[in-house]
Amino acid sequence: MNAPVRITITGAAGNIGYALAFRIASGGMLGADTPVELRMLEIPQAVRAAEGTAMELLDGAFPLLRDVVVTDDATAAFDGANMALLVGAMPRKAGMDRSDLLAANGAIFNEQGKAIAENAADDIRALVVGNPANTNAAILRAAAPDVPGERFHALMRLDHNRAVAQLAQRAGVSAGEVSRIHVWGNHSNTQVPDVAHGQIGTKSVRDAIADEAWLDGEFVRTVATRGAAIIDARGASSAASAASAAIDHMRDWALGTREGDWVTIARPSQGEYGIPEGCIAGVPAIARDGEWSVVTGLELAPALRQRIDASVAELQDESAQAAQLGILGA
Ligand code: NAI
Repeated sequence: MNAPVRITITGAAGNIGYALAFRIASGGMLGADTPVELRMLEIPQAVRAAEGTAMELLDGAFPLLRDVVVTDDATAAFDGANMALLVGAMPRKAGMDRSDLLAANGAIFNEQGKAIAENAADDIRALVVGNPANTNAAILRAAAPDVPGERFHALMRLDHNRAVAQLAQRAGVSAGEVSRIHVWGNHSNTQVPDVAHGQIGTKSVRDAIADEAWLDGEFVRTVATRGAAIIDARGASSAASAASAAIDHMRDWALGTREGDWVTIARPSQGEYGIPEGCIAGVPAIARDGEWSVVTGLELAPALRQRIDASVAELQDESAQAAQLGILGA
């Protein structure tokens, strides 16, 4: 048995938090040899609901679950945390414009970044799920300047998994047959799914699907607007699939990505593919021994390059707005 890993979930009483906690407790994230301690952070009004989730976690009698703490205090929630899944965020309410939303979330992620800096374990790895995820992750990172920047990620794995699933369905194969695809840019509808180097089994995606119009049109639109389609069908936003993607992301971070494949992550850029340094945009990456490396040297067709630049420009615009609001260093 490995040493226990302490995991903080913010927004633990919400829809994604509810789905996440049980997958983590059952060993779905870190495997059957790693006990887990959960720290569940909520706003005061939702602490009671989170306590209900904690009661259900106890009732699950999970052998790996060592300890659960529910709190509305960020200091206690991040105390000694090795991993953090930052799901809690302010939803957009009627009458709120983009900058109101950014300001409300900026305040949350600024405070939580400081709490991470002061209280988390030295090996803290943080994944921001709450939207706007990429910019919230940038705010979190800026509030914890002493923690290495590459430890702050935003969730793009759901976009990645959606792209894999669409390709697998179209080709009539299981999702496990699809490899080497990724999604560039922002977790928004400007995102850019890229299949140029993708494979389905041993064939290239383009040969296996043999429908350029679908790959360059409907496929891209379906992946980029899937969130809205789920809301339309379910009357609520993606929850279990988002939790599952967050689990995939953290599992790969801890245990490594599949041999011969890569996935999509968003972490502060080190200038790869001309993405400005520090910008938290989706890129292809491989994880080994707890460290990620971006897959470099992929050729980008000019039309793809333009779309990536547009999505990155959107991210920079969000960061500039956050800087104007005083919640992100310019
Ligand atoms: P939800 O509304 O069911 O739950 C959010 C929870 O966060 C609530 O229980 C709320 O009380 C809590 N919360 C709010 N402020 C908090 C704070 N300062 N500290 C701790 N907890 C706080 O929402 P749901 O469905 O769980 O979604 C959560 C977030 O994830 C949303 O921002 C959503 O847009 C985002 N999301 C991101 C995806 C991605 O791929 N990056 C995919 C799907 C959703």
